[in-house]
Amino acid sequence: MKKSIGAKALVMPTPVFVIGSYGDDGTPNIMTAAWGGICASEPPAIAVSIRPGRCTHENIVASKAFTVNIPSVSLLKQADFAGMFSGYDTDKFVETGLTAESSTLVHAPLVVEFPLILECTLIHTIELGTHTQFIGQILDVKADESIMNDLGGLDTAKLAPLAFSPLDGGYYALGEYVGKAFSVGKPA
Ligand SMILES: Cc1cc2nc3c(=O)[nH]c(=O)nc-3n(C[C@H](O)[C@H](O)[C@H](O)COP(=O)(O)O)c2cc1C
Repeated sequence: MKKSIGAKALVMPTPVFVIGSYGDDGTPNIMTAAWGGICASEPPAIAVSIRPGRCTHENIVASKAFTVNIPSVSLLKQADFAGMFSGYDTDKFVETGLTAESSTLVHAPLVVEFPLILECTLIHTIELGTHTQFIGQILDVKADESIMNDLGGLDTAKLAPLAFSPLDGGYYALGEYVGKAFSVGKPA
């Protein structure tokens, strides 16, 4: 028996993205975003939805670029901090001790301590009521060697990514490996 709980922005899981952008004076900023995800394979693209009024919103509109920095569980506190304070009145790099490094591909900062980073150039902007959806073409992905296996492939367990649950407002570490995609569902 299911109960109707109304029309809500509810899905599970949502990501924990930390969006990097530059202000027009070159100040680097980061903010946490859970409303987002991959939206095309070729060209590779990612969507992030950000409310007007955020420092990051203003930065992306002006610079037409952003980075998506993906934290490991060990960066949970810094990721949460970036979602509670605004770059308009807080230098989040100073307060968290994180390090900003300029991307050579787009006008946006990389967060050095983060193990997986997407460098994105803005290709579409869609107004969606409370949020503006920014779609970025992924020009490159920077992956730390610490999350690679011996063959140079990416290792999800080493990344130890986070998920945000809109169901209860909690952060979760991802659980165990349960099967290979495009494989376990094959008829016997
Ligand atoms: C877990 C979490 C997820 C969030 N997701 C979003 C989001 O998807 N879009 C958004 O506009 N704000 C989101 N926020 C709020 C912003 O991160 C927050 O308002 C931040 O202070 C904005 O920073 P800025 O003004 O420096 O850009 C989220 C916050 C948290 C803690």
